[in-house]
Amino acid sequence: MHLILAPLHGFTEVTFREVYFRHFGGIDKVMAPFISLTHGDKITALKVKDVLPERNAQVPVIPQVLGNDSDDFILLCRFLSDELGYKEVNWNLGCPINGIVRKKRGSGILPFPEMIDQLLEKIIPGISMDLSIKLRLGLKTTEEFTAVAEVLNNYPLKNITIHPRIGIQQYEGNVLLDDLERMIPYVKHPIIYNGDIHSFDDYVSIRNRFSFGDFMLGRGVFYNPFLPEMIKAETQVLPADAKARFINFYTELETATRHSRKFWMSKMKEYWKYYGTFMKLGDERQLQLFRVKSEDEWNSLVSEILASP
Ligand SMILES: Cc1cc2nc3c(=O)[nH]c(=O)nc-3n(C[C@H](O)[C@H](O)[C@H](O)COP(=O)(O)O)c2cc1C
Repeated sequence: MHLILAPLHGFTEVTFREVYFRHFGGIDKVMAPFISLTHGDKITALKVKDVLPERNAQVPVIPQVLGNDSDDFILLCRFLSDELGYKEVNWNLGCPINGIVRKKRGSGILPFPEMIDQLLEKIIPGISMDLSIKLRLGLKTTEEFTAVAEVLNNYPLKNITIHPRIGIQQYEGNVLLDDLERMIPYVKHPIIYNGDIHSFDDYVSIRNRFSFGDFMLGRGVFYNPFLPEMIKAETQVLPADAKARFINFYTELETATRHSRKFWMSKMKEYWKYYGTFMKLGDERQLQLFRVKSEDEWNSLVSEILASP
């Protein structure tokens, strides 16, 4: 069984990954947050900075592409394979952001299986790397899925990762496990399961119900950074030194974020939406943290939180 770190744009970029993998185990592979296709005939190092090999040696990385232009797709893939040495690329057919959906990108392309077909027909012979796909069960209804699966079945994909929501759900509501169960027989390729595995018990209930070989974890790794290790060790118990390890990790993450971002405090506040749960902050403390404006105030509040029993 493999565990793959999900792409979370704005969260799991290389600065986070470098720190996370210095402190925690359990993850076998990473899918990097999407790289958007843009028109043009040159790929710059800036465009692919998140997946440059020199900062990605700890855990194997799969770059992900978001877009719907086959020429641009092929151009980017050639750079990823020929210049950076990647052997697999993932195509994002799941992103639910309105502006992206409107342009028939991400989950916005799912109601148009013929468009997926036309793109794959050009992309597959044009690239010299494996292609995998990450998708939802549809944009507006799970009924869209069977036609998409029929198209995908005609192509030599490495695997498909299914996040069993539909696009209009965004990240809310339940994962649609009954629909997923109905759709599985339509899929020929190996399936990686993704969605709402936020605790060891969530993992066990998916594992017991389905027979997936591999799992992708996203927000669960933020709600509990030890989750991949716990899944691999088959335990629902945190390690005895969890608090001390979390503090070491967090301290390094904050330092790295301060160095890499001008607005580091707002980024740390986003991380705390999840770490607040791990540290059992409670609503009032969480709100206090979000309202902080000055660096001094931030330093003293975070120190207080980390020092609390
Ligand atoms: C803030 C955020 C950013 C995301 N960015 C990406 C992305 O770049 N590519 C992608 O395929 N999915 C992206 N996703 C979706 C996640 O990879 C994953 O499919 C989703 O969060 C469900 O899994 P989880 O419950 O384990 O988090 C993002 C999700 C969130 C919340």
